[in-house]
Amino acid sequence: MVPTTSLLLLLGLALLAPGLSADQCVLTGNWTNDLGSNMTIGKLSSNGEFAGTYHTAVTTTKKEIKISPLVGTQHNNTQPTFGFTVNWNFTDSTTVFTGQCFVDEHGKETLKTMWLLRSHADSIDDDWKATRVGTDTFTRLRKRWE
Ligand SMILES: *[C@@H]1O[C@H](CO)[C@@H](O)[C@H](O)[C@H]1NC(C)=O
Ligand SMILES: *[C@@H]1O[C@H](CO)[C@@H](O)[C@H](O)[C@H]1NC(C)=O
Ligand SMILES: *[C@@H]1O[C@H](CO)[C@@H](O)[C@H](O)[C@H]1NC(C)=O
Ligand SMILES: *[C@@H]1O[C@H](CO)[C@@H](O)[C@H](O)[C@H]1NC(C)=O
Repeated sequence: MVPTTSLLLLLGLALLAPGLSADQCVLTGNWTNDLGSNMTIGKLSSNGEFAGTYHTAVTTTKKEIKISPLVGTQHNNTQPTFGFTVNWNFTDSTTVFTGQCFVDEHGKETLKTMWLLRSHADSIDDDWKATRVGTDTFTRLRKRWE
């Protein structure tokens, strides 16, 4: 005969365990990537849309970098796939990102993304060389004292 308290404890652990493995990966917040670029993603709307800002550390142009707006959309599940577009407002280029938000057993979130960067071509003859492709990994940006 197992005492009632032990049964309750076992039941509690059983309920807790799946909760731990199913941590929610949340896009909202501040992120930094392998190049030192930062982005801020705002609150999700009820249909999974979001907006934010992107502060790139690198650019293909010689123009001064400015924080640029982004808009995107995500699925609603624990490790959602998403996509967003950055409309660079200091140059005539556009980047689209697509990726997935992963969360490990310690709650650490990682965004694995791929992007296409479309640069402005002066004529259709230059179209062939106007798109670059790459990958970026983002982690949550913590303040130094955190
Ligand atoms: C996120 O970044 C924005 C813009 O740089 C800043 O205003 C805000 O304080 C940051 N939030 C957190 C939680 O670090
Ligand atoms: C996401 O799904 C959860 C559970 O199904 C629901 O409670 C929540 O309102 C949904 N959120 C959005 C932004 O659709
Ligand atoms: C990103 O944020 C970090 C930490 O606040 C800062 O040191 C770095 O200069 C920022 N990068 C850009 C491109 O703003
Ligand atoms: C560029 O976008 C940022 C972020 O949305 C905004 O604060 C800024 O005013 C915009 N600048 C121009 C020149 O449109």
